[in-house]
Amino acid sequence: MNQSDAQQAVSAYRSLLDLPMLAGLCDMQRAVAAEWSVEESVNRLKVLHYLLKRLSEIWVFRITSEPIYELKTLFSHHAYLAAEHTELIRRRVAEMREPPLGLEHVPHPALGQLTDELQGCPERLEFCRAVYELVLARILEACKSLQQDAHPLADAPTVRVAKWLAFELSEMLDQGKQVVSALAAHEPAHEDDFEQSSSDEWLASLETCLQAAITRKDTTGEADSASQPSGEPSLPPRLYSTSKSEFNSLPARDERFQDPYNAGVNPEAFLYDEAFSARDKSLMMYYKRLRELDVPETMASILTELKDQEPWAFYYEMVRQLWDEARHAMMGEVGFVSLGIDWTLIPINFTWSLNLNTQLTARERHGVLFFIEQGLMPKTGKRFEWEVAMQSGDPLCGLFQDFDWADEVLHAQIGRRWYVPKFSSLVEALKYGDRCWNKVMSRWSWYREQGFTQHRNWWPELYQQACAKWGVSPDPRALAFCETYEDSRADLKSIREAPDNQPYT
Ligand SMILES: [Fe+2]
Ligand SMILES: [Fe+2]
Repeated sequence: MNQSDAQQAVSAYRSLLDLPMLAGLCDMQRAVAAEWSVEESVNRLKVLHYLLKRLSEIWVFRITSEPIYELKTLFSHHAYLAAEHTELIRRRVAEMREPPLGLEHVPHPALGQLTDELQGCPERLEFCRAVYELVLARILEACKSLQQDAHPLADAPTVRVAKWLAFELSEMLDQGKQVVSALAAHEPAHEDDFEQSSSDEWLASLETCLQAAITRKDTTGEADSASQPSGEPSLPPRLYSTSKSEFNSLPARDERFQDPYNAGVNPEAFLYDEAFSARDKSLMMYYKRLRELDVPETMASILTELKDQEPWAFYYEMVRQLWDEARHAMMGEVGFVSLGIDWTLIPINFTWSLNLNTQLTARERHGVLFFIEQGLMPKTGKRFEWEVAMQSGDPLCGLFQDFDWADEVLHAQIGRRWYVPKFSSLVEALKYGDRCWNKVMSRWSWYREQGFTQHRNWWPELYQQACAKWGVSPDPRALAFCETYEDSRADLKSIREAPDNQPYT
């Protein structure tokens, strides 16, 4: 059969009753094209794997020191999504005759340089431009190319991975573009032409790295010659990664977070006091949720410092937990907005992440996190919060506590998988976490003496505002509530038993 006969046979081929042929994957014309291989598929997936894994780590690297709340939470979201994409790719690569997978190798030196430069970039706007407008945009293009180029029948699982990634990456890219235009409209432009041109030069150097490493096809369908690394590639000079970037563990907050050292109200003492109503307690739960912004700040430090000592699965599960905690904080924000209360008037304390990040090692911080999360599981913990929320008359509070509880059960399981096995028993693991928590100096009085805060009692103001919105008179006992964290810590243990008094998550 000559070539044109063969083509005719392909075109003339019909399925029974014109039902979708080849299980709906593609038509016969596409299916007979033979330009694909396991090797090509794995190579392309490995480039995407490296970039998405590193991007996830880079977003995590910035969460703690990024002051802007919307960016802290967006980076948490994107770090989580990129980790999910990484996991999908890893599973697919493992299906393609690949053990040992070699996924820890840098697939091309240009990619190592590119991601080092991104991690070291000191400026927020420049970072967002590079990450979203350049790198993520190229990753999306590479996913779309992979979706087109991979054989739709033989390599259908890869096509599905690429399609799924492209779907979520498109949304991430839209959000990133919105970030860049919002920041560009509000941040001062580069002071002079020199700064502008050096920024442009930096972006161009990143583009060069990408072109050297990402496989692309030209219009004739031939692989771009630049995609084949040959010998030592000539890469542009490094600007921000001539030395290793240091992680900044000091949590930063934007100007809406006023009086963040304030630990003048103990919400747990209110929550567990039977004298107060469920409705009034819902305010304290919204506060506790919003205050959880300190958990991603601490988890980002744990992840950054331990990721090289732990397997991928540790990072993958912990970054999910980090994202959940960012969601919990946003549930608190939404709760206050739903009540018409301006949350920026409430001091959202951040000394838990500040003290843990500056006084403990990453392993010790993980111990405290596990101890706290495990403590949330008994009857007095998350179930209790949900029950109170359901009785509060605020269905949104009930909904949020329902999912908060579900998430915390998952987190306790993650801790049992990744933290407890390092000890001889669960009891030992808990004791260590408790000891680490006790080791933390709360600095309650010191922060006041140094003028960081007066530990003002912000509760009556919030409570009266909420009562006005609800159209009810304040309960005089609730209005008079004035317990602080000075004498008891968040699990209501006296500080005579434990010399710290840090808030729970
Ligand atoms: Fe949480
Ligand atoms: Fe949690």
